[in-house]
Amino acid sequence: MTAQLIDGKAIAQSIRTTLKQKVAVRRQAGFRAPGLAVILVGSDAASQVYVGSKRRACEEVGFESQSFDLDTSTTEAELLALIDQCNANPSIDGILVQLPLPTHIDDSKVIERIRPDKDVDGFHPYNVGRLAQRIPVLRSCTPMGIMTLIKSTGIDTYGLDATVVGASNIVGRPMTLELLLAGCTTTTCHRFTKNLEQKVRQADLLVVAVGKPGFIPGEWIKPGAIVIDVGINRLENGSLVGDVEFSVAAEKAAFITPVPGGVGPMTIASLLENTLYACEHYHS
Ligand code: GUN
Repeated sequence: MTAQLIDGKAIAQSIRTTLKQKVAVRRQAGFRAPGLAVILVGSDAASQVYVGSKRRACEEVGFESQSFDLDTSTTEAELLALIDQCNANPSIDGILVQLPLPTHIDDSKVIERIRPDKDVDGFHPYNVGRLAQRIPVLRSCTPMGIMTLIKSTGIDTYGLDATVVGASNIVGRPMTLELLLAGCTTTTCHRFTKNLEQKVRQADLLVVAVGKPGFIPGEWIKPGAIVIDVGINRLENGSLVGDVEFSVAAEKAAFITPVPGGVGPMTIASLLENTLYACEHYHS
């Protein structure tokens, strides 16, 4: 392997250590701990795992986490009422509603009900709009974590050709906005994109978030590129792999994220950073 691994696990841990110290300093000065409400609707197995990790991470850094586990049959009106309660609760700085929601609930309606100053996921149109206008405040957690990983390489992003594969509201779209803000020339690929190979081959910086194992052949990677793999796919043999064919890509890239241990831990680290930010800037 010629590429340098970007160690997301270690970078996320160092962010969490710093946050823990900041919370301890706040507490010593007589301020309350930051509070995060974590809302899970239904029993989706992957969501339960993610939510469990987020709650444990909160405890580790000294945040107060309030857990709301709601039945799949919860109505949209009931969920909106809970969000109203959390919006009005002064001990809650951040509200996280784990996605996906059951199909009878409208995601957008729920996200838009969260007060933008408590939207620590960075999904509210206000916060996405702030990022689009180059005045970010609360930023979407996975793209924000990826920007931290890219900064850790020491590479100057201004003028790089960046390709993002995947155009979801959670990763691809805000990722493109982050890279644009960082001075990249951006290409966003999606299911209607023609000649994906050419767009990947031109990328000095490649971010892939499609959720298909080995979707991007390693052969397509531009020599010396930075490769960020957001996919976490479980194979039948139980192993976890990303969306990029790692073994070949690692021979061509200059930097690459492993799966697991790359992007995954950074999403939670960014969520914690956003929660402390909301607490200090909006609610202290
Ligand atoms: N589902 C998948 N990723 C995320 C995330 O970052 N936040 C929330 N709330 N739900 C998700």
